[in-house]
Amino acid sequence: MEAKIKEMRAQVTAAIDAVKSKEELDAFWQRFLSKKGRVQELMKSLGSVAPEERPAMGKLVNEFKAQVTALYDETAAKIAEAEIARRNVSEQIDITLPAKKREEGALHPITITKNEMISVFSGMGFEIFEGPEIEDDDHNFTRLNVAKNHPARDMQDTFYITEDILLRTQTSPGQIRVMDAQKPPIKVLVPGRVFRSDSDATHSPQFHQMEGLVVDRHITLCDLQGMLDEFVKKIFDGNVKTRLRPSYFPFTEPSVEVDVSCFACGGKGCSLCKGTGWIEVLGGGIVHRKVLENCGIDPGVYSGLAFGIGIERIAMLKYGINNIGLFYENDLRFLRQFKN
Ligand code: DAH
Repeated sequence: MEAKIKEMRAQVTAAIDAVKSKEELDAFWQRFLSKKGRVQELMKSLGSVAPEERPAMGKLVNEFKAQVTALYDETAAKIAEAEIARRNVSEQIDITLPAKKREEGALHPITITKNEMISVFSGMGFEIFEGPEIEDDDHNFTRLNVAKNHPARDMQDTFYITEDILLRTQTSPGQIRVMDAQKPPIKVLVPGRVFRSDSDATHSPQFHQMEGLVVDRHITLCDLQGMLDEFVKKIFDGNVKTRLRPSYFPFTEPSVEVDVSCFACGGKGCSLCKGTGWIEVLGGGIVHRKVLENCGIDPGVYSGLAFGIGIERIAMLKYGINNIGLFYENDLRFLRQFKN
């Protein structure tokens, strides 16, 4: 038995020295320490040892098994350590490498313009209200004083979904929705997308407007001009002037078209203002008494002013853009110019 142990110890020593990997270590365990391994065989062979020698031999075999196990554990620890060291090297991150460049987004010029407009008007105390893009005929036309067969319907080429449902042609229906929901004093802005069957260099089937509505006691055209004067000075340049021209909208009486003195030529006349010195920027007026009545507001007590501004129009004037289509093509060469 002692000779057998001695021989196996030599084998174990040689085998463990040769172990360099986890796989080799597993093979070592299979060979010596598993249930069918050599050490187990040795233990089984104790059965054939003479009974009086068995305790002493058993002790020797047990000690031997403990030594082999210790060798195994020691080597396993060394291999695990080596593995960690190897991974520390192979998985090292070079933090000095330049990072991947990320494209930075920017706001769209319509959003920039819209935000700027909102900021000017909220400085005057306006609140924001948003109405639905899919409207009914009642809000978009009838209650704005445009009855079914009113010729003013021809002013706006409407996309109808059904006879009564349409894509709103203007943000003006927002006026009705606000007056239905709120009692005067009212001071709201309604920004949003509007739709018309119309397309050329300055018209798009889908564009944006910003409606303004103020309803209170003693609101006059002077209030309208004062606010819009302030608005154009903030949006264009401090030196522009406004002028009101009589116009027609069914929901305002009187109605006006608001022009600004040409900021390109200072009013002398150029290609931007088509030689007139003035540029038309928006429509507005005093809310028609019928519109107030349609919303249950007494025109004998209250009066209102309203205006509608094309956001694309303001952006085109501000940035010198001559084709409205550029806003919707998403050409990065165009959009990048608005990055700040
Ligand atoms: N809704 C008109 C349009 O789309 C613009 C407009 C004109 C709005 C006069 C108003 C207004 O509120 O008072 O052409």
